Amino acid sequence: MTEIIMEARDVVHQYPDGTRALNNITLSLEKGKKIAFLGPNGAGKSTLFLHFNGILKPARGKIIFRGREIRYDHSSLTELRKNVGIVFQDPEIQLFSASVYQEISFGPLNMGLSREEVRRRVDRAMEITGVTGLKNKATHYLSYGQKKRVSIADILAMNPQVIIFDEPTSGLDPKLTGQIMELFDGFSREGKTVILSTHDVNAAYSWADHVIVIKDGSVAGEGEPEDIFQDDGLLAAADLDKPWLVDVYRQLRSRGLVAEGCGVPRTREKLFGLIRNI
Ligand SMILES: Nc1ncnc2c1ncn2[C@@H]1O[C@H](COP(=O)(O)OP(=O)(O)OP(=O)(O)O)[C@@H](O)[C@H]1O
Ligand SMILES: [Mg+2]
Repeated sequence: MTEIIMEARDVVHQYPDGTRALNNITLSLEKGKKIAFLGPNGAGKSTLFLHFNGILKPARGKIIFRGREIRYDHSSLTELRKNVGIVFQDPEIQLFSASVYQEISFGPLNMGLSREEVRRRVDRAMEITGVTGLKNKATHYLSYGQKKRVSIADILAMNPQVIIFDEPTSGLDPKLTGQIMELFDGFSREGKTVILSTHDVNAAYSWADHVIVIKDGSVAGEGEPEDIFQDDGLLAAADLDKPWLVDVYRQLRSRGLVAEGCGVPRTREKLFGLIRNI
């Protein structure tokens, strides 16, 4: 049975300078799913994410977490943020402690955990994100990719049920990008809900269970990756490229070079397996 963990109902957000960034957004996110948000620059993805853990408050409409409308008093927000963690698009905004270790331990310490438990969580988060060797380094001097890793470790150490990553792989080298996407699969296998935004249509196509396309502050389309990425009208309207797997599969099929009757493959191995021997 599906369980809805997070909802936005008719959410409108207007920034103080008058920009209307969200325009009656209504959507429901299923617990335990891998959900990818796509859409052009300025579509409203980051603004929406900041609503999911209460950093921004809707001008109209509501955000509902586990069936209850979120409240914005200090203790409700503290509780919400134990459950819903967000890794910001820009790591510069997120990191504020002097050293890497202090930075990653800040969240768990504030949760009132024992020193032992904090150390265990920080060590694990550093190991997963590959920053153990930077433990005592000043966050200020880290490279962009290292900052990005530390900002992900920050949230891992909090161990939230819902993890939101705003463009987690932008600026990362390809090896780490692959590792990060695998890491997110691991969270999902633990039953966590993983939400991310990306401009990488190939990664979204192969990775996500559910894709939501945002444009001009509204939901332009949502569904399973196979459906979304074959909807040429939607892709054009939201300035999205087609994943290479879909493009190549269509070409091969139009020339009769793939077996009939199977859906569009989501991995290169599946595609290679479909190509006919001539
Ligand atoms: N603090 C702010 N004050 C005023 N306008 C803002 C602010 N933050 C974002 N905006 C505007 O709100 C709109 C949505 O921006 P948002 O950052 O949510 O888009 P996005 O989909 O995350 O884009 P990107 O793919 O570039 O990260 C844009 O028009 C942006 O200029
Ligand atoms: Mg953004």
